[in-house]
Amino acid sequence: MKQKHFERYHTSNKEWVVTEESWDPSQQGVREAQFTLGNGLLGSRGIYEELPQDSQPGTFLAGFFDRTGSLVAELVNMPNPFRLWFALKGEKLGIVAMDFTAHRRELDLKHGLLFRQTTYRDTRKRKFLYESVRFLSMADRNLGVMQVNLTASEGAADLVVEAALDLSVWNSGTVTEGRKKHWRIREVAHKGGTEYVRIAGLDGGYSVAFATTVMIQQGGKRRVARDSHFHIRLKKGETVSLAKVFVIHSSGDLSAARLGESARSHLKAAVRRGIPQLTRDHVRGWQKLWGPAAITVKGAPDVQKALRFNTYHLLCSAPAPGSRGSIGAKTLSGEGYRGHIFWDSDIFLLPFYTHTHPWAAAEMLLYRYDRLNAAEQIATARGYRGAMYPWESAGTGEEETPSWAKGLNGSVIPIHTHEQEHHITADIAYAVHRYYVATGDDDFMLACGFEMLFKTARFWASRVEHNPRSDSYEIKKVIGPDEFHEDVDNNAYTNMMAKWNLLVARRMALHMKSEFPREFAALCRRIDLKSGEITSWKRIAPRLAMKVRKDGVIEQFDGYFKRRRIRLSNHNEYGLPKLPKNFLWQDVGETQLVKQADVLMLLQLLSGIFGAHTKKANYQFYEPRTVHKSSLSVGTHAMIAADVGDLEAASSFFRDVLFIDLQNTMGNTAEGIHAASLGNAWQAAIAGFGGVYPSKGILQIRPRLPREWKELSFSYRWQGAELAITIEHDKVRLLARSARKRLPIRIYGHMRDIPAGKKVVFRK
Ligand code: BGC
Repeated sequence: MKQKHFERYHTSNKEWVVTEESWDPSQQGVREAQFTLGNGLLGSRGIYEELPQDSQPGTFLAGFFDRTGSLVAELVNMPNPFRLWFALKGEKLGIVAMDFTAHRRELDLKHGLLFRQTTYRDTRKRKFLYESVRFLSMADRNLGVMQVNLTASEGAADLVVEAALDLSVWNSGTVTEGRKKHWRIREVAHKGGTEYVRIAGLDGGYSVAFATTVMIQQGGKRRVARDSHFHIRLKKGETVSLAKVFVIHSSGDLSAARLGESARSHLKAAVRRGIPQLTRDHVRGWQKLWGPAAITVKGAPDVQKALRFNTYHLLCSAPAPGSRGSIGAKTLSGEGYRGHIFWDSDIFLLPFYTHTHPWAAAEMLLYRYDRLNAAEQIATARGYRGAMYPWESAGTGEEETPSWAKGLNGSVIPIHTHEQEHHITADIAYAVHRYYVATGDDDFMLACGFEMLFKTARFWASRVEHNPRSDSYEIKKVIGPDEFHEDVDNNAYTNMMAKWNLLVARRMALHMKSEFPREFAALCRRIDLKSGEITSWKRIAPRLAMKVRKDGVIEQFDGYFKRRRIRLSNHNEYGLPKLPKNFLWQDVGETQLVKQADVLMLLQLLSGIFGAHTKKANYQFYEPRTVHKSSLSVGTHAMIAADVGDLEAASSFFRDVLFIDLQNTMGNTAEGIHAASLGNAWQAAIAGFGGVYPSKGILQIRPRLPREWKELSFSYRWQGAELAITIEHDKVRLLARSARKRLPIRIYGHMRDIPAGKKVVFRK
């Protein structure tokens, strides 16, 4: 696609490009999500600029939630800066309104650029070539750029252009809430070619300023559009080029009073810098991000491209430096789950950032730390001690799970996850520890991490119930990761993660006491932590119940084995099980059907603790009972299948997680990209097939590549070093860059000391 100076960024390597070959209205929402642009601060769905019928513009500013009119806070859909359309004496140049003879869009994953080319034909059969390219800058995160070229290929034309900010945007809301705007306009101005709009959230929590300008280039002359609505006259064969530059500033950065001034001067400086330079800056930003994050798979081109697509979305979502923000279940690509943050970010996404861009992982953990007080308030309100994190989290850290929803058939569906899905607290503690093991970031731990571990352990110590008959501890009335079973006692995942939380908190207390005695004493004073409390963690942990059958199968919760077995003999085109035709959903809790990996999730997270026999027995037992009704399930299954040596199943599960959004296999990509799957696919490739994962504090490399893969290479941050790892079927090549010392790593089961800066090879 020709786009003047953009042309040189437009890679010809198809493995870096996701293409839309034609206009298919039924795919509009899916493409909007897939073609989302983002830079961690801003996300913008890949809408067509002219906003055809049913398009769902989504412009999101990370961390901007509003509650007005909703049951719970939701991520605010902001004014859309990428709107622009041309009209020609009563005919709109639009994919629905006008005929077209050719159409194509391309998302350049390498450079974060979205290209479009459409050849329109008006009612007088004259052709117009419409081209656009746009980006949200990865160098200057408050900035976006769009260039549109229009060529009147076959005759002169008088055109009207509308390039104003689209203020008609709303959040789509649920069935009962209906669509709603979460903001009102506080200021509008158009002066000196700059359109300025300031909006304020209805809760009064934020103010956001937009400043945009449009530059017109025609016949070798450049001018700034005086208004965002203007006329253009084109001669036959002539091209007009419109460059729209915008900046978005929020009261998160500045006081509302200063927003206008700062947005306007930022815009001016950007315009002075010029589009070519702004693009170069942006592209350089992307290059820096790709460096540590790129994965190369030889021998499987479709896998390679899908991995790039997933990694692209992971990079778009990495919280902006200094933002202390996390990532919602649908990234910044849709309104699904109202932008809320779940365990998806701490368990499924965090490993990717920890091992590629640890600074982004730290931002995500800081998000949790900043809400530790709110978590303590939740615990207190529920009669517990310590910190109890909400199942769904947004701006304030309060519980944001809606307590009910209305189904399309009018039925009211009560939701209990916030009351019972308590494992999230241990998941967050796990994320903190996992980050610490990988990075050795003492500063983070001293400022936040140790406190988080102690306060989450304190919660569990108050949450467990002592059973005097068996002298054990129990956790009753919970929902595990498998949400089909509510109100269960002793869910193995919850109990074991709680146990892990208690033990690790104690271990870290001893570590902190010996390494940082002054800080330890100060923290203990501040949070009133006495040695008796720490000892109690050690007393409770081993007595937390988990039932294991003789053959090694762990009972998912008390009484699970007695539930009805449903055999799943039919499978869909992706190889995933289908429920029997006469199955009644309301009975699901009475059956052994599992929504998503639960016991297997435990075995994957605490992989180093459970032996090969236990993993295999549980995989063989639970896999046939799992229906994967959450996108979180298949990636975990890919990892555990690889771990137990079932490579065929692992490859099939891996494809299921890898293509969820690229092929819309769950049918709901239009609501946004499944964030957890992005991270899970990365983990399945690196930890599952590459066999590269930390276990008991030591990095393991135990590869098991799918047969068709010839080579897997990637870089991996580990304890301050950047490891370049290349895996083939019979060997592992390693280079430890920027390592401070020799690194102990277990490769093919043997401990090795990896020297810094020297290439080494290990054979199987
Ligand atoms: C899953 C949860 C997940 C949530 C958001 C639910 O369907 O059961 O585990 O956190 O979706 O992705």
